[in-house]
Amino acid sequence: MKSDRIIVANWKMNPESPETARTIFLAIRRASEKLKRTRTVVCPPAIFFGNLAKLSTSKVQVGVQDVFWQNNGPHTGELGVSMVVASGGTHAIIGHSERRELGETSAMINKKVLAALREKITVILCIGEKERDNQGNYLGFVKDQISSALAGVQKRYVENLVIAYEPVWAIGKSEQEVMKGADMHEMLLYIRKIISEMLGRDYAESVPVLYGGSVSALNAEDIIGNGHADGLLVGRQSLDPVQFKEIMNIVDSAN
Ligand code: PGA
Repeated sequence: MKSDRIIVANWKMNPESPETARTIFLAIRRASEKLKRTRTVVCPPAIFFGNLAKLSTSKVQVGVQDVFWQNNGPHTGELGVSMVVASGGTHAIIGHSERRELGETSAMINKKVLAALREKITVILCIGEKERDNQGNYLGFVKDQISSALAGVQKRYVENLVIAYEPVWAIGKSEQEVMKGADMHEMLLYIRKIISEMLGRDYAESVPVLYGGSVSALNAEDIIGNGHADGLLVGRQSLDPVQFKEIMNIVDSAN
């Protein structure tokens, strides 16, 4: 399928049972069939990942919420990149703020990005400032996050790169506290400028830039239409099939 928009469901540490995970996934799969230009990627907890990957299609794919930089070996609790591929996974969220909060460093994120891209896994790299300040220091923060995460990435792997801009101050909040489309547009241009400086202008245009942080059916249209985001990364609302279907339809049809 030719898709120019992406919607990622980040289920985080939910739902509680494999049966519920399957039910939600099948509802999302049904909704995905009607979409014309949007690819959906569901990232369930690792323990449900293999079973759901067996149910994936070209329109709804399955990814992991984190990945390790080695394929195998003495790394208790980690998931190897080649294991993800062998189990039917196509995408990996890397550098989510909730993992950074647990101690994941920029150096670790860089190793994960390089390893995943080498295995042809599409990397959904999460970046975003913790807070905004009037001096614009947050822009430097975002730039550092992107340049450290992408250090050493070869241009031939860029087609497997997606950036998810997730300002930490907008994650897990109410839908009114979400970022406005116009602000997202400004950030999107800034992110493209950073990628352009690192990898060249052509690459900067081709890397999809998503927005994440308290997305709902109420704000999705503004972020896609006015923010010009190439898609969304959705947390809580991706566990509610009715709400998520609505968001999927908005992403697919917004101008
Ligand atoms: P949220 O989570 O949609 O529940 O705010 C988004 C995220 O952290 O990826």
